[in-house]
Amino acid sequence: MIQTATLAPDDIGLAAAAATLRAGGLVAFPTETVYGLGGDAGDDMAVARIFDAKGRPRFNPLIVHVAGVAQAEQIAVFTPAARDLARRFWPGPLTLVLPLRAAAGLSHLVTADLPSVALRVPAHPVALALLRAFGGPIAAPSANPSGRISPTTAAHVLEGLGGKIAAVLDGGPCAVGVESTILSLLDAPQILRQGGLAQEQIEAALGAAVLAGHDTSARPVAPGQLASHYAPNAGVRLNATLAEQGEVMIGFGPVQGDLTLSPSGDVVQAAANLFSSLRAADVLASQRGASRIAVAPIPNIGLGRAINDRLSRAAAPRS
Ligand code: TXA
Ligand code: MG
Repeated sequence: MIQTATLAPDDIGLAAAAATLRAGGLVAFPTETVYGLGGDAGDDMAVARIFDAKGRPRFNPLIVHVAGVAQAEQIAVFTPAARDLARRFWPGPLTLVLPLRAAAGLSHLVTADLPSVALRVPAHPVALALLRAFGGPIAAPSANPSGRISPTTAAHVLEGLGGKIAAVLDGGPCAVGVESTILSLLDAPQILRQGGLAQEQIEAALGAAVLAGHDTSARPVAPGQLASHYAPNAGVRLNATLAEQGEVMIGFGPVQGDLTLSPSGDVVQAAANLFSSLRAADVLASQRGASRIAVAPIPNIGLGRAINDRLSRAAAPRS
């Protein structure tokens, strides 16, 4: 066990965080999507510590965070379409999978030795300030133990990883609440993970339809998309309109519950509330001795796709 410091996102906190990263330590930091568990993307030991701290069952490639397009172009090969998407949506909740440059200097562990790399520029002032203070690319999966709910506050991070990481930069709650959308541009554009940027917005920008993970059974979805993921302790029943006995109910729109993802039926608000609602429902279930969480139907449009992707993982049979 180590002492996990909570750092304020001021000059002193940022300098301490950057020094920790330079020394191979781990710092959790806020992004607009979820808190990331950051380590030096060029340092295998630091990246290994990320997997270790998370207790990940396998070495999946991690998303590499950079300060801007110029730094991204030193790491990956950009096509005109990639450049256009980056200009339009970065900083923001879009991760691009692109061919890795040989001289990029990344840890092999961070890319799981693939010839490609997943890159994004986060749209959070604290994340960008940390990237600038550190000066290099930062590997950062969500800052939660593997298989558990992603953190959207510094308190969530400490709950799951306190004692296992050097520090957390506290930048308040995350605005988007689900991870970034992962788009592979290695072949025809394909969404590997639905997330904080809606598929419709990507398609509008490209002027063409993109393949989406679930439509393409021949190709694996993003490696590391374990079926039973984001699992609360209680079981999960989806598309519920009424709680059964022994259930805590999460509502949405007109479907009421013990708590609600969005009283007005707004999928963006629901995404922002998703992980903390699952946590709160889990706590409520254990207080009441309830064994299951029932969740109202969420429309499969816009961020609703990402919510349903996460919920179906939370509801997947546990092995
Ligand atoms: O919102 C987010 O994206 C958050 C915040 C912290 O930025 N980060 C995040 O990172 O979710 P991470 O490392 O957990 O995302 C890993 C996902 C996995 O599904 C992984 O398989 C995919 O990115 N991925 C990484 N490199 C890849 C590659 N070369 N090809 C295909 N998928 C890749
Ligand atoms: Mg995660």
